[in-house]
Amino acid sequence: MIIGTTLILVACHSNDSEKSKNTESPDAGVTANAEIEERLDAIISELSLEEKAAQMAGVAILPSQGLWLTPGIERFGLPGYRMTDGPRGVTTNRSMYGSAGLSPTTCFPVAMARGATFDVDLEERIGRAMGLEVKAWGGNVILAPVINILRHPAWGRAQETYGEDSYHLGQMGAAFIRGAQENVVASVKHFAMNSIENTRLEVDVRANERVLREIYLPHFKVAIDEARVGSVMTAYNSVNGSFCSENEHLLKEILKGEWGFDGFVMSDWIWGAHSTVQAVGAGLDLEMPTGAHYGAKLLRAVQTGELKEEAIDEAVRRILRKQLAFELDKRSYEPDPGMVDLDAHNALAREAATKSIVLLKNEASALPLDREQVTSIAVVGSFAQVSRTGDEGSSSVEPPYTVTPLEGFQNRSEDVNIRVFARDILSLDDKKEIADTDAAIVVVGFTSEQEGEKIDIFNTGGDRQTLDLSPEHEALIREVAAQNDRTIVVIEAGSAVTMESWLADVEALLLAWYPGQEGGNAIADVVFGHVNPSGRLPLTIPVSLDQLPKFDSSSLSVTYDYWHGYRHMERQQHTPRFPFGYGLSYTEFEYSELQVSSDSIKSNGVLGVTLKVSNVGKRTGTEVAQLYISYNESTAQRAPKELKGYARVTLEPGESKDLSFSLRAKDLAYYDEPSNRWKVEPMSYGLHLGPSSADLRLEKSFQITN
Ligand code: BGC
Repeated sequence: MIIGTTLILVACHSNDSEKSKNTESPDAGVTANAEIEERLDAIISELSLEEKAAQMAGVAILPSQGLWLTPGIERFGLPGYRMTDGPRGVTTNRSMYGSAGLSPTTCFPVAMARGATFDVDLEERIGRAMGLEVKAWGGNVILAPVINILRHPAWGRAQETYGEDSYHLGQMGAAFIRGAQENVVASVKHFAMNSIENTRLEVDVRANERVLREIYLPHFKVAIDEARVGSVMTAYNSVNGSFCSENEHLLKEILKGEWGFDGFVMSDWIWGAHSTVQAVGAGLDLEMPTGAHYGAKLLRAVQTGELKEEAIDEAVRRILRKQLAFELDKRSYEPDPGMVDLDAHNALAREAATKSIVLLKNEASALPLDREQVTSIAVVGSFAQVSRTGDEGSSSVEPPYTVTPLEGFQNRSEDVNIRVFARDILSLDDKKEIADTDAAIVVVGFTSEQEGEKIDIFNTGGDRQTLDLSPEHEALIREVAAQNDRTIVVIEAGSAVTMESWLADVEALLLAWYPGQEGGNAIADVVFGHVNPSGRLPLTIPVSLDQLPKFDSSSLSVTYDYWHGYRHMERQQHTPRFPFGYGLSYTEFEYSELQVSSDSIKSNGVLGVTLKVSNVGKRTGTEVAQLYISYNESTAQRAPKELKGYARVTLEPGESKDLSFSLRAKDLAYYDEPSNRWKVEPMSYGLHLGPSSADLRLEKSFQITN
């Protein structure tokens, strides 16, 4: 029997150049603008130049009690900012500052894993949970989310962002911000084009205006328009010859000018700022973590007339505005662990981890393990006994506990006999024993030395030099597969992995990313079938590096064109190993009844799109229906197709649901460089729906008229 229901979803992506209103509303826990501006007038007129200059820099090179501080102003009851990092959880340095009276913080799966959930509601709940943990710790700013485009999967900090697609980044980032800003101010980062780790401090990333506007910036605009983010952190690198922290085009003209951003811009840490007068003029409001270029130099610049006091007033206004708007002056900063329902956050971490796992291969229905046939399993690899939660950089979290893959399997094993080979080099005896088990699960991946934020003093992180697993892990997989036909591989990594030397040998493959504190339980839930996998790739997995644009982690100057990810693959007619949006389920889905509200809409109009998705398999499962647009008649060079909407839908066996999307014509515009304007072309557009960028099952065209 088919049961029908309707889900209403909105696909929206804003790239118009109108100034956003960015008005604060009570539903975001903030007070009205006019009243705030009056209070700001009064405060700023009372502050001395010294006090104003002091507002524009953090107070210490090291965090105090795990928080980076900016100065408060006691006589106005203003607390200053108290910042800590995300984005995989709240970074509190408990081991450095002790945990007395302070709550431990939850380690969620890394952002790339959460990108694979395509679940904006979940991301909003995670943002809310992290915001609350910051508040409970005594903070009021979370330095997250990261919404940099994954230009290339070798990027060391790939794990901190949500994927390669701008639309997707905008949706996930805005969801996180909406949730987090119920409790604290979010600082979206790193603006802009941060995409190489090893030379992050000096690389100059060049791009023309169209590439900037269409590929690298639109998701930041969504964070402002749709989530009213309170703060933006600049990137270390320069863009078109000017460091991001003093880049007038990025900060003054686009962010604050065209987009109407009314929050404050802060530098990235220690090496992020490069100048005083130029940076203030370009729109950098706050230097962090101290005033190497601001502070005394700022004061001097005003005293010598190099800088007008109004420029300082404007920056201070922005910095204080969000303290008032978020009512940070009405809050206590005593740490209060009681605010956090730890059990609920642990459960959220587990939900995110189970939803983020992507089933990439499942021959002969190897998964889920059939308990009637599989009574013994071999769990193989040193990674099985370790919790891989991600890198050791600014995003590293010290969770209350972790669950290793092995512990997860043990928690779920019931009467299945587990044999453990927690090593990467196997003896002859090991191999014989592995051959005797009904299935072998090999856990492999990367460490924080191999990828992550590069912290030289700890010799950790950096860009990956190859997308292959280590030769030891590749050999391990092949050896196990040679012994056991039912070999299942679990990869823990921050982005794409190439796998040509072993993929054909194994029956099943799960990409678990860095799955957070509950990772082991989540992996076991999927392996034993307690959860039907629903993760989808937020990036393309190529056959080899040759299919991708060039990536040189030592470059000091790179020029980015319009092409990366699935857009690049399709343009080059490369067949990836696994395409963007791909992921298997233990059930099957069918797509039908695609309808549009009209065959033609105006260039300021909205198209209604509906379709039916049915579960035609035997298990309850979740599909991520994806909507792409093609532009065959365009006079401009466009991507073969682009993601413009998606929806997760959970269906019982035999159940169908109607999904509905709203597509705004203006979201199909391209940036016309000669006129410096967005243009919606009057022409026919292709609408494509399906389970991945390479499997689009329903198609229709519609017209946009002038
Ligand atoms: C990172 C930022 C982080 C900051 C503070 C920097 O090195 O690039 O993402 O927010 O440190 O920890």
